Amino acid sequence: MNYRVLGKDLTVSAVGLGCMGMSHAYGAPPDRREMSALLAQAVELGCTFFDTAEVYGSPDNPHHNEELLGQALKPYRSKVVIATKFGIRFDMSSPAVNKPLIPDSRPETIRASVEGSLRRLNTDHIDLYYQHRMDPKVPVEEVAGIMADLIREGKITHWGLSEADEDTIRRAHAVCPVTAVQNRYSMMARWYEPLFAALDELGAGFVAFSPLANRSPHKEGCTFTALSEVGKALEGAGVETETFWIGVKPLSGCIACKTCASKHKCVFDDAVNQFLDIAGDYDGFVFGTPVHWGGATGALTSFLDRAFYADFCGGGNRFLLKPAAAVMSARRAGTIATWDQLNKYFGLMQMPIISSRYWNMVHGAAPEQARKDLEGMQTMRILGKNMAFFLKCKEAGLAAGVPLPEQEAISFTNFIRD
Ligand SMILES: Cc1cc2nc3c(=O)[nH]c(=O)nc-3n(C[C@H](O)[C@H](O)[C@H](O)COP(=O)(O)O)c2cc1C
Repeated sequence: MNYRVLGKDLTVSAVGLGCMGMSHAYGAPPDRREMSALLAQAVELGCTFFDTAEVYGSPDNPHHNEELLGQALKPYRSKVVIATKFGIRFDMSSPAVNKPLIPDSRPETIRASVEGSLRRLNTDHIDLYYQHRMDPKVPVEEVAGIMADLIREGKITHWGLSEADEDTIRRAHAVCPVTAVQNRYSMMARWYEPLFAALDELGAGFVAFSPLANRSPHKEGCTFTALSEVGKALEGAGVETETFWIGVKPLSGCIACKTCASKHKCVFDDAVNQFLDIAGDYDGFVFGTPVHWGGATGALTSFLDRAFYADFCGGGNRFLLKPAAAVMSARRAGTIATWDQLNKYFGLMQMPIISSRYWNMVHGAAPEQARKDLEGMQTMRILGKNMAFFLKCKEAGLAAGVPLPEQEAISFTNFIRD
């Protein structure tokens, strides 16, 4: 194992172990004993750098990951560097499957967080304490001031920032030297490379998260950025919105078993059925996808194949005459083909397709880039407003006594008759 120094004096193994997936974001936590053995094995192999966060939890235990590390790493505590993070929580009041993140770096919140993390990690100090995400309501200088206090008090020995840009890092560093910045970095995600020179200049280290690349759709990537802009426009027009993320677990394609005809849902009980359970309560849909190889992602394609087929065969009518739109994000090309692909679903499902002033696309390889695509973001806002208008017209029409058209039984006329 090679070792590196982050900042002035924090020596860590060059390969660290990110522990999030042992508790959070990748389904139910795996067996605790197996994970404890894996952590011990990592130490034996020379890994001395372990990464967790206050919010890496499971539905039953919101701090599952810190507790796991606190227990499993106790025998090795003096040999290892433990990094954890503060400054975000989940909005538990949201009915969404994936709860929205709320940044919160108020001094009193940080004080409570550090005590909780110390207790769960079974330790009297945290080696590297990251602000998980910036809090637009609390200047980073104020956060850095609290970090300086915590270092003086011996509760933490080093601090850092996660998903931070150069300006924020410089402002923070001026108050209390930053030891490391943890941002996404892999051969698929190279947009932070221009930051390296500034970090060299400041003497701060760079810790890569998802260094082997994790599967897109990124939960808060470009597609999410585009969908959020549509959502804001809808909310601005008085229409409530909800985000349903299909997640990163493998999604089988449709196996044409037709179980859905009798069960009214898919034979595979996964995100598709979760979506079908709630889809009937919604009045309109915007489906987003990054462009992968010139089309929608394999996961979204499988998801829509199964969700719509289950509704169609099962006579669910969850989507009948509800407006729909598809939104694509791409680094360069393939958006139009993807739009064609997704609009075809709506054509089969009797879903009026809502358009904008341009085709519904944003360009970028990272959310910051997508946000800079001003025309793309405008297209999203117009789409949201147009969809809100349609929804209101439909509601007004129904209220005025205009009924939904009567449905005819389907005549299946195959090209080859038997
Ligand atoms: C497997 C894969 C295939 C991709 N194929 C394309 C492509 O065909 N055209 C393109 O412009 N971008 C392509 N990209 C880049 C993404 O579409 C682009 O970065 C997108 O904005 C990412 O959105 P996200 O942050 O929501 O994942 C591809 C990315 C991946 C991971």
